[in-house]
Amino acid sequence: MVLYFPLLNIETLLLKNNKMSILEIVKEPDPILRKKSKEVENIDQSIQRLMDNMLETMYEAPGIGLAAPQVGILKRIIVIDLAKQDEPKKPLYIINPKILWKSEELISREEGCLSIPGYFAEVARPSKCKVQYLDYNGKPQITDADDLLSTCIQHEVDHCDGILFIDYLSKLKKDMILKKLIKTKKEKQIL
Ligand code: NI
Repeated sequence: MVLYFPLLNIETLLLKNNKMSILEIVKEPDPILRKKSKEVENIDQSIQRLMDNMLETMYEAPGIGLAAPQVGILKRIIVIDLAKQDEPKKPLYIINPKILWKSEELISREEGCLSIPGYFAEVARPSKCKVQYLDYNGKPQITDADDLLSTCIQHEVDHCDGILFIDYLSKLKKDMILKKLIKTKKEKQIL
């Protein structure tokens, strides 16, 4: 997920850890974004390395949330960091998330997505949720999320189920965005 205003993190741009690599972000309309991701069975070094690279990719984009299918890997893995530009980083690693509860109360927020660059739209989602997951070290965690974190978790869990935020928009608006994305993709292929 991305915020409406771009968060350019100078520190991220300057202090690149050599061990990490920037992954390619899959863009809509790529069929991989519509597939359901599988649960991670074993949290080993390769999974941790993937999460490190996803986080680095997300910081560079920049975005505040990224799910593994967005880098072409159909595993239920999410990274999130809601820290502001001038705050220390606060990465959140979420593996095999299960939303245990969602509030009836909804909140409408402007959402964007690194797989749908340049488009933002208001989406109404439950304002709070309770999520169970495994952390970076495979330890079970339960988090009560509200506000932006709640929106972000739901947006990223959707990615693991092949759902994009444009699916919540009217058909007219969704078709318009899709048409423009396809046009951009064709133009890129010509160049
Ligand atoms: Ni997204």
